[in-house]
Amino acid sequence: MAPKFTPRVFSGIQPSGGLTLGNYLGALKRFVRMQDEGMETIYCIVDLHAITVWQEPAKLRAQTREAAAAFIAAGIDPKRSILFNQSQVPAHAELAWIFNCVARVGWMNRMTQFKDKAGRNAENASLGLYAYPSLMAADILVYHATHVPVGEDQKQHLELTRDIAAKFNHDYGVEFFPLTEPVIEGAATRVMSLRDGTVKMSKSDPSDQSRINLTDDADAIAQKIRKARTDPAPLPETLDGLKDRPEARNLVNIYAALADRAPAEVLAEFAGQGFGVFKPRLAELAVAVLSPISAEMKRLAADPAEIDRILGDGANRAEAIARPILERTHDIVGMIRSR
Ligand code: AMP
Ligand code: TRP
Repeated sequence: MAPKFTPRVFSGIQPSGGLTLGNYLGALKRFVRMQDEGMETIYCIVDLHAITVWQEPAKLRAQTREAAAAFIAAGIDPKRSILFNQSQVPAHAELAWIFNCVARVGWMNRMTQFKDKAGRNAENASLGLYAYPSLMAADILVYHATHVPVGEDQKQHLELTRDIAAKFNHDYGVEFFPLTEPVIEGAATRVMSLRDGTVKMSKSDPSDQSRINLTDDADAIAQKIRKARTDPAPLPETLDGLKDRPEARNLVNIYAALADRAPAEVLAEFAGQGFGVFKPRLAELAVAVLSPISAEMKRLAADPAEIDRILGDGANRAEAIARPILERTHDIVGMIRSR
């Protein structure tokens, strides 16, 4: 990467439902770590992305505040990090338009998340859902962000972000946008559903039993883990033994990520034990980690005006970085700025 880009972290989460354990382990927990390591961190609740699929307005507002509360409860300090909702910084949507003219239809057609979300009825999907990865590239590049922590499911979108940056730089003969590094690390880059170890845990899964929500209380967490689908075999000695056991592997990975340990270490401790032993220990650990977060979320929810103030302050600071980069983009593209 060209040295002129100073390290800057950007990432986003959609307020399209309540946040899950997948969001926490795959994203939020690592957002906090990067902040605590002293990096410049910008975190965004991507409401413009959420409306690519219909959202009830009052719910969208509530879920945006709830997501902000989750960030703060998980350890994001709105003074050290910039925390805001996307629509308050119009530079994202403005740069996305320019990127719509850089990205190729053929590239968008390869996006697997669009195919998954649009399903069989792609003709009826919104145009926004199709263009969504171009907006995501703009989210990142309007800050010249260099590092983007995400879960595994976002890898393809980050490759597209690099393609867009490279094509823009090439087409205009500049070295203006950085080639962003995806940061996809740890045991929980893809937390799976508790009901089916072959599909991702998701806030939009119709079954609430499939996921642990950050707002679940201790009883709900314990009950969901107790009922999680597993197989009758005991836990194996090595990771190899989990190869064809997606549900068992998922629970081991969740345990490892919650405990900040390697999955192999977890197996070393539990090898030979059945789920009758492992599940209660996992539930205990999950409750210990998540209870303080959900309690803090509840406390923050009592003061929505304070959350809105934090988001507004974050948006002001984000805007101060994004606006000059957008203006330089306009200059490169050949647009007159005369006011
Ligand atoms: P989303 O909820 O789709 O906006 O995702 C926000 C962030 O959480 C992204 O970085 C995702 O990759 C990550 N994420 C969402 N679900 C999971 C999951 N089941 N496992 C790991 N990471 C996830
Ligand atoms: N597309 C991401 C998701 O659904 C959310 C997102 C939007 C994002 N813009 C981003 C993530 C920029 C990282 C960087 O999970």
